[in-house]
Amino acid sequence: MSRTQPASYSPVHIVLHWSIAALILFQLVFGDSIGDLGRALRNGGTPDTATAFMGNAHIWVGIAILVLTVIRLLIVILRGVPAPVPGSKLQHLAAKAVHGLLYLLMIVVPITGLAAWFGGIRAAGEIHEFSKPAFIILITLHVVGALYHQFVLKDRSLSRMVSSKA
Ligand code: HEM
Ligand code: HEM
Repeated sequence: MSRTQPASYSPVHIVLHWSIAALILFQLVFGDSIGDLGRALRNGGTPDTATAFMGNAHIWVGIAILVLTVIRLLIVILRGVPAPVPGSKLQHLAAKAVHGLLYLLMIVVPITGLAAWFGGIRAAGEIHEFSKPAFIILITLHVVGALYHQFVLKDRSLSRMVSSKA
């Protein structure tokens, strides 16, 4: 199947990028909430409203990330993404590796969370807990790279993830 490479990210792709990023930040900041809910349930008590709400939010926001990421990957496969901004082979490889690892986490982390919570699979829980440092390292590299491209190299890399007309 031959497909022409698009000149820009589609508006849907851009909205998905920023929505998923916001949901992941929520999970990283409030990740402890589901631990509090688990402890309250294990102690046989009834969790208070705030603990129950935030614990359930962790589950539903995590599922939303998984579903939205699958939709985004389908868009990547069916429509493609624009060619990378000009740069060395090494820069392209580094960007590709960071993007690939971010996608991997966006799929593996919610699945291991579901397996730990609903399936009681201990190993899945251990992998899931590793998600926090892994995400923080990758997001930091990604953001530093994006800002470097936009403000030092001035190649409008960030602009094209803000508007499909950039
Ligand atoms: C991309 C989506 C998700 C992210 C980024 C995420 C992130 C986190 C973080 C940062 C923690 C705290 C880890 C720590 O430092 O102790 C955590 C714990 C946990 N999450 Fe998630 N999570 C996601 C999705 C889910 C989903 C869908 C579930 C399903 C129920 C889930 C279940 C859990 C469980 C069971 C824990 C361990 C609580 C404990 O015993 O301490 N997560 N998650
Ligand atoms: C949890 C946070 C984030 C995740 C998981 C994430 C993930 C990704 C992924 C996988 C791509 C590859 C292209 C695609 O398929 O969409 C991408 C592109 C991009 N991201 Fe992020 N991102 C996050 C946050 C940010 C932030 C905060 C910025 C801004 C500083 C940013 C700026 C960009 C830019 C500019 C591109 C396009 C690069 C290009 O093709 O020129 N991202 N992001």
